[in-house]
Amino acid sequence: MKKSILKYTVIAVLLIGGVYSCKENTEKNTDNLEAVVPMETAELVVDLKDTGIEIQPTMYGIFFEDINFAADGGLYAEMIKNRSFEFTLPKTGWVEPKSNRHSFNNESGIMSIVQYAGENTNRNYARVAVKNDEGYVLINEGFRGMGVKEGEKYNLSLKAKKGKDDIKNIKFQLVDSLDNVIGETTVAPDVSEWKTYEKQFSATKTEMKAKMKITFEGTGTIDLDMVSLFPEDTWKGRKNGLRKDLVQLLDDMNPGFLRFPGGCIVEGRTLARRYQWKKTVGPVADREILVNRWNTEFSHRPTPDYYQSFGLGFFEYFQLSEDMGAEPLPILGCGIACQFNTGELVPMDELDPYVQDALDLIEFANGNTSTPWGKVRADMGHPEPFNMKYIGIGNEQWGEVYIERYKVFEKAIKEKYPNIVIVSGSGPFPEGDYFEYGWEQLKEMKAEIVDEHYYKPPKWFRENATRYDDYDRNGPKVFAGEYAAQTVAIASPENKNSWDAALSEAAFMTGLERNAEVVHLTSYAPLMAHVDGWQWTPDMIWFNNLESVGTPNYQVQKLYATNAGTDLLSITEDGKPLTGQHNLYASAVKDQNTGELIIKVVNTSSSEQKVEMKPNGGSVANTGTIITLHHEDLDSENSFEAPENISPKSEEFKTEDGAINLALPAQSMTVIKVNII
Ligand code: AHR
Repeated sequence: MKKSILKYTVIAVLLIGGVYSCKENTEKNTDNLEAVVPMETAELVVDLKDTGIEIQPTMYGIFFEDINFAADGGLYAEMIKNRSFEFTLPKTGWVEPKSNRHSFNNESGIMSIVQYAGENTNRNYARVAVKNDEGYVLINEGFRGMGVKEGEKYNLSLKAKKGKDDIKNIKFQLVDSLDNVIGETTVAPDVSEWKTYEKQFSATKTEMKAKMKITFEGTGTIDLDMVSLFPEDTWKGRKNGLRKDLVQLLDDMNPGFLRFPGGCIVEGRTLARRYQWKKTVGPVADREILVNRWNTEFSHRPTPDYYQSFGLGFFEYFQLSEDMGAEPLPILGCGIACQFNTGELVPMDELDPYVQDALDLIEFANGNTSTPWGKVRADMGHPEPFNMKYIGIGNEQWGEVYIERYKVFEKAIKEKYPNIVIVSGSGPFPEGDYFEYGWEQLKEMKAEIVDEHYYKPPKWFRENATRYDDYDRNGPKVFAGEYAAQTVAIASPENKNSWDAALSEAAFMTGLERNAEVVHLTSYAPLMAHVDGWQWTPDMIWFNNLESVGTPNYQVQKLYATNAGTDLLSITEDGKPLTGQHNLYASAVKDQNTGELIIKVVNTSSSEQKVEMKPNGGSVANTGTIITLHHEDLDSENSFEAPENISPKSEEFKTEDGAINLALPAQSMTVIKVNII
């Protein structure tokens, strides 16, 4: 057995054991950047004449994956956990406090879980039986609490059905950690049929970890389902929508695309638990919930209460893409469960339903309203097509089993929708046998775009700025779909979103940009993490129940995405691109829309470095803007207390004799913007 196959087999065995953390790089990465003797002045030439290479509008995008409580408990603003009593342990998230019990066999009431008769995607509801007038209480704990803001309005809704006797009122109270009421409303159930009740109330205090206390008044039984609480102030004010601050951070990046919903979540640990997009559209109450695959993936970060309600489903992902002006890029499973887990395979002669899911998704996104799936979209409030252009088949699949399945999808999709661009995958590693085999096969098949993933130490990023320099310009295009510098080891809980990691990614990204001819899409991974509910680190955005913070890595991504330009230019020293000489890295673009020259220079050394950039084949205005991101401490991070610790600062600069002369701070990324005249 070849050494690399053995290595991957060891990793796979570890993963199947429920331990995702690859032991590939267990030693702490102590490769802090070397001090260098500062050289005189690096003399760079920026060629203003066209290279004929476009920066694709999709170049810098985002990858949303439901990991780390990114959807339920995060972007999806629902505050009640397990609102429809569907978790494997159906009372998860619901607490019956001790105050209900007055003595050993005397309690105010009881909650039991009842199944609906017949087939139902929403299987369960809760039956509350209140025995005496002392007031039976139920508490929902939220997603590690509920974030509540003083003066904000909250929308409560629930389905209820009165049973025997007379429950007169149900009081809903938000309470703080000391049980003080900080917002309340009352519902008076009035019929013995299922009925939806809706109320709005305001909060009187800001609280990070509020709970919802529900008190039943009167005696008798009552059935409850879809007990839900949302802030009124959501992204674009959509009822029961997305968390505004989190979407704002994404929108501020001006992402070129949105890849969703995963990641390994697409594949499932088993095929039965794969992501099925059809189950995530239509009325929210009918979306069948699923245990989140990250729920028990890491023995060091078990999250047994992590489920997918699919309130954030495929319709919402398309809508979010549209809101941000990003191309939607859904990824679908291809009949292989996660190869790090069970690797279950759908037999080749049973692949049809999977392929049909892909064809139906294109109809859902783009079909007219007279088509069955176009009608589903229209009924959800979006008769206009979403104009989806890309579809991804498979996430991190590898080997023959992937290629033979991919071919079936490709044939069916291209036959029916020749203009849809298909994204294929090259497996979980950026080199080695799986990677090489995948690329070789996909190249032979003339695949359009191949997805690559790399979770590597910061040093690897600094040393691989030339990665794409030799890629075949006539072969498939590249989607750098998941990458992030790991300061300790892949998926180690000790990884940090440090400046070291972000700066190294910034250096590497000059290489992505310089190779825009072959690299068409790129995205950092994973995107988001709840401080109390994460499984994987590092992550681009961290949030708690009230606030969110962009990491230094976020700032780097944002600087690239908001200064993407439209056309590649060449920037060289002695005729060669800067790919780490003197610890400097550079790329340059022109923006046709603004007429600007935009240069990105990264100085990874621990000394200030002087550069002179001379335009060739044209000239630039006398003044421009420089945006600098830097920090003297490579271990430094952003935090809720200091969210702007590492954040861009802008200032004006003046050219000297037509040249741009700058002193680049130690450990810095600088974006230079100046009009071409
Ligand atoms: O982003 C975390 C995981 O890393 C993704 O689910 C997977 O594609 C990769 O292994």
